[in-house]
Parts: sequence; structure tokens; C-alpha cells
Amino acid sequence: MERIEIKSLLQSKPEDQAVLVKGWVRTFRANRFIALNDGSTLNNLQVVVDFENFDDAVLKNINTGAALAVEGKLVASQGSGQAVEVLAEKIDVLGTADPDKFPIQPKKHSLEFLRENAHLRMRTSTFSAVFRIRHAVAYAIHKYFNDRGYFYMHTPIITGSDAEGAGEMFGVSTLPMGNPPKDEDGKIDWKEDFFGKATNLTVSGQLQAETGAMALGKVYTFGPTFRAENSNTTRHLAEFWMIEPEVAFYDLKDNMDLAEDFVKYLITHVMEHNKEDLTFLDQRIKNEEKNMKAELRRPMGLIETLEFVVNNEFERITYTRAIEILRNSKPYKKKKFKFPVEWGKDLQSEHERFLVEKEFKKPVIVTDYPKVIKAFYMRQNEDDKTVAAMDILFPGIGEVVGGSQREERLDLLLKRMEEMDIPEEELWWYVDLRKFGTAPHSGFGMGFERMVQFITGMGNIRDVIPYPRTPKSAEF
Ligand code: 4AD
Ligand code: MG
Repeated sequence: MERIEIKSLLQSKPEDQAVLVKGWVRTFRANRFIALNDGSTLNNLQVVVDFENFDDAVLKNINTGAALAVEGKLVASQGSGQAVEVLAEKIDVLGTADPDKFPIQPKKHSLEFLRENAHLRMRTSTFSAVFRIRHAVAYAIHKYFNDRGYFYMHTPIITGSDAEGAGEMFGVSTLPMGNPPKDEDGKIDWKEDFFGKATNLTVSGQLQAETGAMALGKVYTFGPTFRAENSNTTRHLAEFWMIEPEVAFYDLKDNMDLAEDFVKYLITHVMEHNKEDLTFLDQRIKNEEKNMKAELRRPMGLIETLEFVVNNEFERITYTRAIEILRNSKPYKKKKFKFPVEWGKDLQSEHERFLVEKEFKKPVIVTDYPKVIKAFYMRQNEDDKTVAAMDILFPGIGEVVGGSQREERLDLLLKRMEEMDIPEEELWWYVDLRKFGTAPHSGFGMGFERMVQFITGMGNIRDVIPYPRTPKSAEF
């Protein structure tokens, strides 16, 4: 008999037909009701066992976590809570799970405990919902760009230039670490290394994506990105995935319109395709907040928040205006901010959250940051002080998108590189774009996990990637 997945089975009409299902036991109640899950859906299938028809040897192995193959009849359910159920006729225990040893028991486990058992946590409702949604967001990203004529470009993971300046880098080398070859000055001789030069894991595919945009017009990257910064926060990973569209002939306004439309599309896609998973995660947060003080609870439920983001225009303000608002704010006047609010200093997460959560109560796009706090490639504004940058700030998360119009004017780019000590020899190919058919262009980077975090409402970014890489942690 051919196996049917539980997702399809639950939508089938019960007509006493014979079915074969396979999955893992979530619970086995009263020696009679198995809740079976195969990952295809959040919902479990109820399998009804008449224990008189089965050997004790089989029954004693039906424990939480065991893998089963069940043959039986699909019937309308007698109980409430499910429309159909399977009356078991034959049960094969494919793999047992010792109840004294299997860590995931049918009770509430803390997220920290589950992180330590990340190889098994996808077997819980919460994590299976998160990872089905993660898949849906990844699919929607490709669909969005494909439907609009963009080309998916694979930028290198190992890079030979460390000039992007997006963050600290991980080196890539095959030289013996204990005893590397040295040059005349006693420094490591990278010429002897695999690539004949020092190389790193990429912090961004943007610079290469720009070369694609200046040929194919509209491209995007979607790949792993690495940052060796020692940030132990709920929003930072050392290995994360980033989506970077890059578009020829786009200015900053076009770029913001694209980014806003794009993130709204992704959220809408999940609301349409992952209703059950979202409803479950929404309820999960509500349960968690039941015993919390009112001021600690989120102002809106998860689905409500997503609807709100999709249905409202993002606020667009300049960095200069943001500083004004912050300096006139209550927390500033009452000295509640830890970090200084001064024109020329970067916005910290406390400032971003004030703007989004207190001042505007919706996503905010901050534009035209001081050039001193932004990368060399951002297009310089007329005022000589700011650049055509934009960050999208989300409630609870802070920055989800960072982008800019790029400096397409050769002289201005070279001047900025010199000021920032970026050697032209290293980025000669990037500079070439400004020599041969230069044109205005723009792009941005969206942190994939931050977006998934926002959509699933998970508080910690480590809970939306299967195997998080963070300082002092690379298990699994
Ligand atoms: O703002 P960032 O550093 O921008 C760039 O790398 C540009 N090259 C993007 C571009 O214009 N093409 O990073 C972009 C986004 C951030 O807004 C954030 O969402 C995410 O990447 N991000 C991280 N996500 C998880 N962990 C980290 N350590 C992250 N650092 C950045
Ligand atoms: Mg940024």
C-alpha cells in the first residue's frame, strides 16, 4: 500500500478506506489514542488502538518519539478535536524511543533546553511550525523576484577582499595554524596559502551583486553570510542568511518602495499559506504572556501585528529628523537612554525601538545617515555630510533591512575610498564599474533570520535557524 502523508489524510473524506501512514508518536494516551505526526502539518493524526488486538510487545514500544508505520481504516472521528481518525489494524514500530532517555517529552520544555537538543527540537509543534514558515519565506523570496524579472545570482562565499567593512571576518586558510610560513618581515606569507592571498568568508554579496546589476539589470543574492563580531544578542548570528537585491537605474526612493513592497509580500504570503502554523505561534505567545505584567506583554498579538504591518505605510524619516525626535523624547529628557543621542552617532537599538514602538507605532524607514557612520559605497548627498542610505526598522526587532543608493561617480567613490583607507588595488574590479558604463543603481540587504523572527514572533534569533552559530557555540 502506498503511504499517505498526514496533511493529505486529514483532508480526505472518511469512507472506511484502508490507509498507510508513517510518523512519530507525539503522545500515547490511555493505551488507546496515539497522536501521530509526520511533519507535513502541525496537526497530529489520531490513531485509535484497540489494545486487545495487539501484542504487549508492540504496545510497550509505542512511546513518545518512536517511529511507526500504521495500517488501518480512515473513519469519521467519534471524539471532538478532529474530523477523522485511523482505526489501527497493523502497527510496525520502525524505531523505538526509550522514554527514560528521549529528551522531548510531552510537556513544556524551555527554549534553552530545546536549543541544547536542537537535533530533536524540530519534532515539537513550535519548532516544526517555525521551520515550515522559514521554508515558506524562502520560497516567497524566490517567487517575488522571479515574478518580477530578477535573476538569482550566486555570489562567492570565500572572498579575497576584506574591504566591505560590514563586520569582522572569519579567515579561510589551509596554512598550518601552529607554524605558518613567514615572509622576510616575519609576517604570515599569504602567498603560500591556498588562494595565494588572504581570504575570508563573505560578510555580504553586495559588491559582486552590483557587477550583476550592471549587466543583467535586476539581480538578487540569497546566501549565507558570516560575521565574526562578538555580539551575544537575541538578534545576531555569526552565520546568517541574507537577501540582497541590486537594481540598475534605481534611486533611493525606488529602493525604499521595493523594500517595503517586498517585506509586505513575504508577510502576506505566510499569512495566506501558513495559517495553522501562525495561529499556533500566536496562541503560544498569548499563553506565555498570560502571567506577565501588562507592560511586558506585546501591544498586539502576532497575527494582528503582521496584519498591521501589511496594511500600513511605513513611516519615512531622515536620520536628522530621527535625532530631533529622540532629543525631544521623554526617555531622552529623563536620561533613560543608555547611549548618547547626537548627530553623527549611530542609532542604537534603544533609539530604534523608541521610534518604532513609541513614536510612530509602525515600521520606520530612516534615510540619509551621516556618511561617517556608513560604508564607502553609499552615494554622497549634496550636503556633503550625509549619504543616500536607508534602514528599515521593525517593532521588537530593530533593523531588518539596510541599503542605499550606490556611489556611481568615479571621482567621488575614489575620494571616499581614500578617506576610508580602502585600497583601490583590492577593489579594482568594483571601481571598474564606474569607468565603464556607470549608472545610478541601488540595493539593500535583508536579514533572513530577522524577518523569520518577526513573522514567527520568536524572541531569539537562535530559534529560527536550525543550527545557530554564535560566539562559543557551534554544536551540531
Ligand atoms: O546592514 P548590513 O550590514 O548591510 C549590508 O551588509 C549591505 N551590504 C546590504 C546591501 O546593501 N546589499 O546587513 C543587512 C541586514 C541587516 O539589516 C540585518 O537584518 C541583517 O542583515 N544582519 C544580521 N542578521 C543576523 N545576524 C547578524 N549578525 C546580522 N548582521 C546583519
Ligand atoms: Mg546595517
